[in-house]
Amino acid sequence: MDLTDQPTALLPGDVRMPLLGFGTWQATGQAGYDAVLAALDTGYRHLDTATVYGNEREVGRAVRESGLRREDVFITTKLPPNQVGRERQTLEASLEALGVDHLDLWLIHWPPRSPADSIPLWRELIAARDENLTRAIGVSNYSTAQIDELIQSTEENPAVNQIEWSPALYDRQRHAEHRDRGVVLEGYSPFKTSDLSDPVLVRIAAAHGVSPAQVVLRWHIDHEIVAIPKSVTPERITANFDVFHFSLTAEEMRDIDALGEG
Ligand SMILES: NC(=O)c1ccc[n+]([C@@H]2O[C@H](COP(=O)([O-])OP(=O)(O)OC[C@H]3O[C@@H](n4cnc5c(N)ncnc54)[C@H](OP(=O)(O)O)[C@@H]3O)[C@@H](O)[C@H]2O)c1
Repeated sequence: MDLTDQPTALLPGDVRMPLLGFGTWQATGQAGYDAVLAALDTGYRHLDTATVYGNEREVGRAVRESGLRREDVFITTKLPPNQVGRERQTLEASLEALGVDHLDLWLIHWPPRSPADSIPLWRELIAARDENLTRAIGVSNYSTAQIDELIQSTEENPAVNQIEWSPALYDRQRHAEHRDRGVVLEGYSPFKTSDLSDPVLVRIAAAHGVSPAQVVLRWHIDHEIVAIPKSVTPERITANFDVFHFSLTAEEMRDIDALGEG
């Protein structure tokens, strides 16, 4: 499957981000390498890593071993904000470990402890993007107020905010706040924050002949929210990608939304 065959979110600069990516937190060493290679063989074209995951080297090796062209894989990594003042060295270390000359998306992993660092840090990401070291830039674990502060100070909105998200955490207002600001919402921990035996998910899964986990991922995609499930289990890696042959009805979407609105 080509990157252009998958549903994508459009980021500034005409950057296409696949709505379904592969999470790699806690997928380290040989198991991490094997999982990422299996994901790429399955068809995933979007990988999510971070400096603090300690697996950028394995992720980069799997991309090379996959035989895919660099431009056919969307790679995200994240800057730990305790690297204030060492942003460029941290980015160069990520590029070196991944074995690439640019990222597709570089995120600030969480808001810096000192609010005074917030704008200088964001300006470092803008500079890296302007030098083509990354195609897009964004944040993670930011509140809407923290995003607004960046936009007001720099007139540059983060392309993405990566936050914890799942049916049980569904927040219509927060989703709308992202959309209104042109910020793509990327969800993390879709399963860890879900009850996969919830009767609503089980009923909808049965109606489509799929699993509740697949319903959770399809729900993200039908909301145009990026999902990045992680697995080191070959069958789950395959099943989590097998969500493009069905879609949810408006009524099913409402029923799942309601799990977070109760
Ligand atoms: N920005 C941030 O602060 C932040 C924080 C957390 C996560 N993330 C990113 O988001 C990604 C996903 O989040 P996550 O890793 O926390 O959690 P997750 O993807 O919700 O859940 C992963 C867990 O679910 C299991 N699993 C995978 N597929 C399954 C399926 N079909 N049915 C049942 N269980 C399944 C996995 O087990 P096995 O691996 O054993 O199969 C693993 O234990 C991370 O890997 C990371 O890339 C970002």
